[in-house]
Amino acid sequence: MKNRTEDTLPESFRNFKVHFTVSAPGRINLIGEHTDYNDGFVLPTAIDKTIKLHFAANSTPYSCSIYSKTYGKSFSFDLRKIARSEEQWENYILGVINEIQKRGKYPEGFDCIIESDLPVGSGISSSAALESGMAFGLNELFGFDLSRKTIAELSRDAEHNYVGTKCGIMDQYASVLSKKDHLILLDCRSLEATYIPAKFKDHKLLLLNTMVSHSLASSEYNTRRKECEEAVYHINQLYPEVRSLRDVNLTRLAEFRNSLPEILYKRAHYVVSENERVLKAVEAISREDLDQFGLLMYNSHKGLRDKYEVSCEELDFLVDLTTEYKPVKGARMMGGGFGGCTINLIEEDAVEEFIEIASEAYQKQYNIKPEAIVVSPEQGTYFRKH
Ligand code: GLA
Repeated sequence: MKNRTEDTLPESFRNFKVHFTVSAPGRINLIGEHTDYNDGFVLPTAIDKTIKLHFAANSTPYSCSIYSKTYGKSFSFDLRKIARSEEQWENYILGVINEIQKRGKYPEGFDCIIESDLPVGSGISSSAALESGMAFGLNELFGFDLSRKTIAELSRDAEHNYVGTKCGIMDQYASVLSKKDHLILLDCRSLEATYIPAKFKDHKLLLLNTMVSHSLASSEYNTRRKECEEAVYHINQLYPEVRSLRDVNLTRLAEFRNSLPEILYKRAHYVVSENERVLKAVEAISREDLDQFGLLMYNSHKGLRDKYEVSCEELDFLVDLTTEYKPVKGARMMGGGFGGCTINLIEEDAVEEFIEIASEAYQKQYNIKPEAIVVSPEQGTYFRKH
């Protein structure tokens, strides 16, 4: 039976003596959205906003307590009875423990205090940070010798099996394996990562948070994944070597223009085009052609809006605003969609001015103040001993 308390630091934490602290970052994604679960390419990196998890072993074999400063809530559980909870935030933690145990590693009693400066539901992956930060901490605390890659994979599995979102690997991989000042070109089929220097001379990456998070996000996400699988199923009847949309190019897809249901064709068309855009974006960034990269960002947004249909009015509004404003080279929605942030590549000198313009326009339209966050590529999960 689990115990819960709210608001106050629970009794069991009165003698809490932190052993070490894990910092688990959120992530941005430059381009390559909804491609990860299609075996495709993505271009993410970690940012300097993190969830901090303070760990201590408690010398008991099975008792654990978790306290979230952010939610002002705590819960306790027995390591022999890990099961899904009706409280969704607890599932991020329980799911990770379940995956670790499934891999034949057994944590002992521990306590953990969690605090976060990552806004929830804003598309910068607070959930992946929480999962992988938990896995990273338990790996340290109990010397499990799990690689960073395994930590990312088991964290994704926790999200599938306990949280219920059939996400790809991008968020967890970026949170755990990023390098400062680099982007990760990740091949989500082989998990081969190429670290690309983030050369954005005289430009900044600016996130604008719509502050909305439409409830469709999780169900529509799983629907998109299914639609892609269905498209692959059709194509596979004629081309048995096609195992995912990664194996399809636009010419091959065009052969299915009339036989694939319209909606599946649109979804597949977006994914296949987005994969191509990621590779073009890497070339553009490497030769410091930011105009070209900006164009690819806009095309990515159009595809997400019109073909993949995961954008929303508020995101479109913020992206549309930038097309009139020259110092922004490119903008698009970021992450799963239906709310959260846009990512903008903008001339350094114009950041302040643009934040003002965008805030004013957005407030006038929606009566909500958008949050503006300037981000830079940072290292993945790390820990500090006390
Ligand atoms: C969410 C998922 C990722 C990825 C993005 C869309 O963030 O967790 O795996 O699919 O959406 O690119």
